[in-house]
Amino acid sequence: LASGSQLYITLTGTFVLSVFTAVLGSLEFGYNIGVINAPQKVKTKNRSLEPIPTGTLTSLWSLSVAIFSIGGMLSSFCVGFISEWLGRRKAMLINNMFAFIGGSLMGLSKLCRSFEMLILGRFIIGIYCGLSSGLTPMYVGEIAPTSLRGALGTLHQLAIVTGILIAQVLGLESLLGVEDLWPVLLGIAIVPAVFQMALLPFCPESPRFLYIVRCQEHQAKRGLRRLTGRQEVGSMLAEMKEEKRKMDMERKVSILELFRSPLYRQPIIISILLQLSQQLSGVNAIFYYSTSIFMKAGVQSPVYATIGAGVVNCAFTVVSLFLIERMGRRTLHMLGLGGMCICAIVMTTALALLDSVPWMSYISMLSIFGFVAFFEIGPGPIPWFYVAELFSQGPRPAAMAVAGFSNWTANFIIGMCFQYVADLCGPYVFLIFAALLLFFLIFTFFRVPETRGKTFDQIAANFDQHSTTGMMDMDMDMDLDKPSTEL
Ligand code: GLC
Repeated sequence: LASGSQLYITLTGTFVLSVFTAVLGSLEFGYNIGVINAPQKVKTKNRSLEPIPTGTLTSLWSLSVAIFSIGGMLSSFCVGFISEWLGRRKAMLINNMFAFIGGSLMGLSKLCRSFEMLILGRFIIGIYCGLSSGLTPMYVGEIAPTSLRGALGTLHQLAIVTGILIAQVLGLESLLGVEDLWPVLLGIAIVPAVFQMALLPFCPESPRFLYIVRCQEHQAKRGLRRLTGRQEVGSMLAEMKEEKRKMDMERKVSILELFRSPLYRQPIIISILLQLSQQLSGVNAIFYYSTSIFMKAGVQSPVYATIGAGVVNCAFTVVSLFLIERMGRRTLHMLGLGGMCICAIVMTTALALLDSVPWMSYISMLSIFGFVAFFEIGPGPIPWFYVAELFSQGPRPAAMAVAGFSNWTANFIIGMCFQYVADLCGPYVFLIFAALLLFFLIFTFFRVPETRGKTFDQIAANFDQHSTTGMMDMDMDMDLDKPSTEL
């Protein structure tokens, strides 16, 4: 069943367009992560806007940073319900309304002299990002051919990091990071949404969703034909039929069910821990507070070092994209976690020695770059699409909601607490992340199976075997056809 069943030998225009359109949502997500540094500096200077004491301004600013993650937490929890109710494509389409409203509120807040609008705008754009962080990987994972599912899944992260980099560059003082222009910087968030809205009507709904959930065989076939450019889609439909047959035998899977049923308990725990491994790795400590970290590390121009980190971030996501179908998810995730752990230790040592050995500032900068590079090799892209892979059509939406919620909650905790913990621990703060990374590495080694080249049905069968016999095949590649044989 695995071989050839889902492989689109040539990537058609419709397929490329659909993936591109979906990941515009990820670009928007990344832009709003990255955009927050520059105006923070400007707005706290911006006394003429409101005569508010600096302390209050700082709290208001922290609130507008935190409220973004709260928006994300709330909406990511609704991904399952919304994607089933509206379908993947319409959900993405309607989600753009949040980007419009949020972007407009932020863009007009200075004109209206209202920081409330800025904070509300951040909350609403957070809602957009929470939904898009679930909808994009779900849609891409469902339309992707098995042998390219990982590489295409990585595109979600690639678009996120591109969005972060664009925001970092546009936020430079020589561009939009100045007093008068920060509303433009924040308002630009509308642009990807406009493109996504214009293009989505040309993309087909996910055929898996149409066939397995909506039972619309005819429409599903039509979608498959458009995506593959082939008339004959029988083998792909046969694979979905098998998944549907199994799903019809089960009850509808609620979030509670995911934890109760022995069949889903293992994959949902893995999904949550993978999301935690992404966020508790400490990467956003770097992305949210990079300028002050680079300053403490004795780097001459921290703003450019931040952009350097953004470039490394993009470059290594591309590396991961090319390695993922060759080396597999499990290996790359472990490599990334291990590399980050070593970089965190080197960084701590360098920071601790900085006063006595001046050239340690170079080592600390290099270790920060290394930390980010290893992040993008595995822990950055993999958790996002891996959840969609671990579950078949029935439990997938609920699982994506739980995973997204875990991710956003951990993101919120790091965003809120890092600064305080860093003040307490001084140069040793990254040792906490090193310990967490080691824990996640050990967990991945013992618990996370390889999913490369396997159909959703085969992956589910592996967990089924685990729930009945207690045995799980960690490297499903060993006894099943390698993806290369599909080509
Ligand atoms: C991932 C994380 C996000 C982080 C980004 C950095 O997408 O989910 O929180 O900021 O990677 O590249």
